[in-house]
Order: sequence, then C-alpha cells, then structure tokens
Amino acid sequence: MGNEIFKNGRILRKRRNADLEKNGMLRHDVDLYMLNTLKIKAKAKDFFTIGSEADLLSLYNLCKRENFNKQGKKIFALGEGSNTVFAGREVDALIVKINLKGRYLVNHDNEYVWVDVAAGELFRDFVLWTCENGFSGLENLAAIYGTVGAAPVQNIGAYGCEVRDCIDSVRYFDLNDGQFYTVSAEECKFAYRYSVFKYQDGSKIITNVIFKLKKNFVFNDSYEALAKSFANVKKTDITPLLVAKKVTEIRNGKLPDPRKFGNCGSFFKNPVISKEHYNNLKAIYDDMVAFEDGDNMKISAAWLIERCGFKGKKINNVGMYPKQALILVNYGVENIGYIISYAEEIIKTVKLKFDIDLVPEPHYVY
Ligand code: EPU
Repeated sequence: MGNEIFKNGRILRKRRNADLEKNGMLRHDVDLYMLNTLKIKAKAKDFFTIGSEADLLSLYNLCKRENFNKQGKKIFALGEGSNTVFAGREVDALIVKINLKGRYLVNHDNEYVWVDVAAGELFRDFVLWTCENGFSGLENLAAIYGTVGAAPVQNIGAYGCEVRDCIDSVRYFDLNDGQFYTVSAEECKFAYRYSVFKYQDGSKIITNVIFKLKKNFVFNDSYEALAKSFANVKKTDITPLLVAKKVTEIRNGKLPDPRKFGNCGSFFKNPVISKEHYNNLKAIYDDMVAFEDGDNMKISAAWLIERCGFKGKKINNVGMYPKQALILVNYGVENIGYIISYAEEIIKTVKLKFDIDLVPEPHYVY
C-alpha cells in the first residue's frame, strides 16, 4: 500500500515517489503523504532513507558533521507511518525512513524457533509467514499495519496478545556513538503501549527484532470475541493460520482500511484510573466498560468517546469511525489543525465529563 491517492474511499490515481528508492542520502522537501496512513499532507525538510547498515554509519557521520545534536534537531525513525501524526505542513524533525529488509532463522530447539527480522519488514507479512510455517505466538496480531521495527516501540497489542510475548531481544543503532547494541526483552521494559524506545529522543534506531516463537501451537483464547468465533471448531483443527484468518476477519469488520480511509489505528490509549475513581463513575454509569489492571482499572477509551457523542461524528472532514469509536478517520482533511483540534475537543470533553485524561497513542511529529 502507500502509493495510492484516495478521496472519500475511492482511488483517484497512483503515484510514485522515486525519492523513496534512494538510500543513504540526505534529501529535502520530501512529500510525506504516501508515508503515513492517516494521509496527512506534509513535507519533510530533511529526509534520509536507510537501506543498509552502512547507511546508518553515513547517517551518524551526517549528524556529527551538521551538529544536529547541538542544534537540538529531533530525529524520527519512520516505518510505515501507521502510528504517526505529522503535526505540521513542514516537518522540522529529520525523518529517517527505515527500509532494512530480511528475515533469518537464527536458532531452534525442541520447543522454539528464533527469527531475526529486519526493522523495515512489514509486520503483517511477517506474522502471516510465521503462521504459514506453523510457528505460534503472533497469530492474534495478524493484519496490524506497521513495520517490524515499530512493533516493539509501543509494544503493539490486540486480541489478548502483546508483541512483547514473542520478543527475545531488540537490536538498535545508537546515533550518539555510532555503535550497535542488543537489548533483552526485559531491558526493553515493555508495558501497555510502552517500551524504553517510546519516548527517547530519536537517536536509538531499531534495526532488528529477534522473535522467539513456539513450534507447538497454543491457542490464546483470552479475548472473548475470538474464543467465541471458534466455539464450533474442534480444538485439534485450530491452527495459527486459521486464527490469523479469523483475527483478520474480525479486524476488517470493525476497523477502517487505511487505504480507503486515512487513519492510524487507535488514536488514544485506554486510560488507567484508581479503583476509587472507577467506583464513583460506575455508580453513575453502570454500563461503563473496564478491565482490572493491577490495583487500578483500565477503562475503554472507545466507550468514553462514544459516551461523549463523538462516535461517527464528523467535523471538518474528521470523525471517529462509526464502527469503532477509538479510530480517528481523516475523510480528506487539507489542514492538520482540524485533526489536532478534533482530538483536543475529545480530550477536553472526556476530562470534563469523567475527570479522565485521554492520551493520544500515535506519535506527533513536528
Ligand atoms: N467499545 C465501545 N464503543 C466502541 C468500541 C468499543 O463502547 O465504539 C467497548 C466495547 O464494549 C468493547 C470494548 O470497548 O468490548 C473494547 O473494545 P475493543 O475490543 O475493540 O478494544 P479497544 O480497547 O477499543 C484495543 C486496542 C486495539 C486492538 C483491540 C482489540 C488500544 C489503544 N487499542 O482497542 O488496538 O485492536 O483492543 O484487541 O489498546 C491499535 O492499537 O491501533 C489498535 C487498533
């Protein structure tokens, strides 16, 4: 995907950006429209594509030469742009597009296989490949947009699974000293939509993710809707591929296809509040959707947004998706300000009504 120009769900035409194929060079005024699934029209003042590890060294030398550190220049590693909001028409940050490709089986024993995957591979393609080979662990994460390198950054999750469940380690290049490092899953400090890579200054560029997958399939049926959809299937007939297909079906039924309607998945994280706060709200709103989260409660952001009247409500060509209130859809916005102010209106309304702070899930890049 990525090279089609859409308007209101119709393909208008296809376009090509030859710039994207030139690795290891600094370029200017690069069009970012094809590089974000929210379909924001923006330009990168400075843009660099990484197609090999040698390109990372060129980038390191460039940053040193241009003194980017001292200038406080932000660096943003871009995968498929499926969790990114370019928050201005001209983006100041140096955009580093990751085109590293390849997957290698690096080890196996009786129970597990270890697969080393380059950051620029599409996550959904890799998940399908694991399922087709009968490896288990990632099947519940089928059909998620984005690249492999982006997956650990916010520890993507869906249908009762988080990517951390299958990550052995992560390799990155550090632009501060020009060295490669490998960190274990534990050192990544994964939590709900969080890892140590989430709020760093952009200098740590993920190059590979090493996955640890099971050879024997274990069905993760903790998500009710998924478990229900297999109620009539014999346990022994369930395979990773069948689960991946079912998850894809469920996702397609609820979430808009970004090739037709610009979006970047969940626009907000599900907020966590104290049990006391939850009990006070539950006394008023007895249908409030919430889940235990240690000593606290995780509240469904979709429910909060729906309750505030934003589900399906369009303002200036922006709206929350009618089938899933957590997905902000760009129906053809020219001005990014409309998207930002729509999101702010939601945050303000939820705060006023429930005294809960909603936090956006995608990265805002300036
Ligand atoms: N709900 C509503 N209104 C809605 C939609 C949902 O009230 O419009 C309530 C329903 O009761 C539903 C509950 O919220 O049972 C939870 O909904 P859902 O299962 O769709 O999950 P979610 O919490 O809204 C999270 C992830 C999604 C992931 C789904 C499925 C976050 C921020 N989002 O959404 O991830 O696909 O679970 O597991 O945690 C993404 O991160 O981009 C993403 C799509």
